Amino acid sequence: MNQTNVNQTATNATGGRTRLVIGNWKMHGNLADNAALLAALRPANPAARIAVCVPFPYLAQAAQALAGSTVTWGAQDVSAHSHGAYTGEVSAPMLKDFGCAWVLVGHSERRSMHGESDQLVADKAKAALAAGLTPVVCVGESLAERDAGQAIAVIQRQLAPVLALGAQSVCQMVIAYEPVWAIGTGRTATPEQAQEVHAAIRAALDGIGAGGIQILYGGSVKAANAASLFSMPDIDGALVGGAALVADEFLRIAA
Ligand code: PGA
Repeated sequence: MNQTNVNQTATNATGGRTRLVIGNWKMHGNLADNAALLAALRPANPAARIAVCVPFPYLAQAAQALAGSTVTWGAQDVSAHSHGAYTGEVSAPMLKDFGCAWVLVGHSERRSMHGESDQLVADKAKAALAAGLTPVVCVGESLAERDAGQAIAVIQRQLAPVLALGAQSVCQMVIAYEPVWAIGTGRTATPEQAQEVHAAIRAALDGIGAGGIQILYGGSVKAANAASLFSMPDIDGALVGGAALVADEFLRIAA
C-alpha cells in the first residue's frame, strides 16, 4: 500500500518549507461517515500537502480509500516497542504495514490523560523513525503555564529528549505546537503568540542543526483563521482536530 507523492506548491514564505495540513480525527468516526469523508478528500488537490491521522481500526479503510490519491494517512499514537507482550499497544511496524506515513506522538491528550512523559514521547518518535514513519511530535503548554510566563520553558523541556536523539533523527520529524488552552476550545493563539513559540522551537532546532523541519500549529484551526496563521514565517502548516471532520472546512484550510 504505497502512497503516491503529492504535488507540493504552497511553501512557507521565508523558509521554502512545504505547507503541511494534518487532520487529527481523535476518537471520532465510523465506517460509514469515514467513507464519505475520505471520498471527499480523495479528489482534492489543495495547495498544501494533506494527511489524516485516523483511529487504529480505520487504518485499513483509510489505506484503501486513499490509495493512489495525493492524501496520505497515519495514526494518532504508537508504542515505543517494536513487538512483544504489550497488550493493547500498536507498534510502528504494524502502522507501516497499513501504509502509514505519519504518526502523532505526545499529543497533549496523551500526555495529560495517559501520563506520557517527555522521555516516552521521544522513545515513541524514535520507534516511529526506525519503522520508516514520520513522527509528528506534539508539544504545548497549559493555560496555567502560559499565565506563569513558562510557555517557552515548557516547550523546551518537552523537546529536550527529542533533540537528544540528534540532528539526523530530528531532521526526519515534524513538530506540532499545540497550546493546550487552544485545543478544542475555539480559542486560537493569535498568529503573533504562535509565531513567538514557533520561533523559539526553530531556534532550539537550529541549535542542533535541524532548523529546516516543518513546525505545525494546532489548536482550533479553521478555514477562517488558517491564512493569518500561515502568514507567519515559522508556521509551516496545521494540525487540525475538529475542523478535520468536515471535508469542506478541512480542504479550505489546506487551499
Ligand atoms: P482542535 O484540535 O483543532 O479541535 O482544537 C487540535 C488537536 O488536538 O490536534
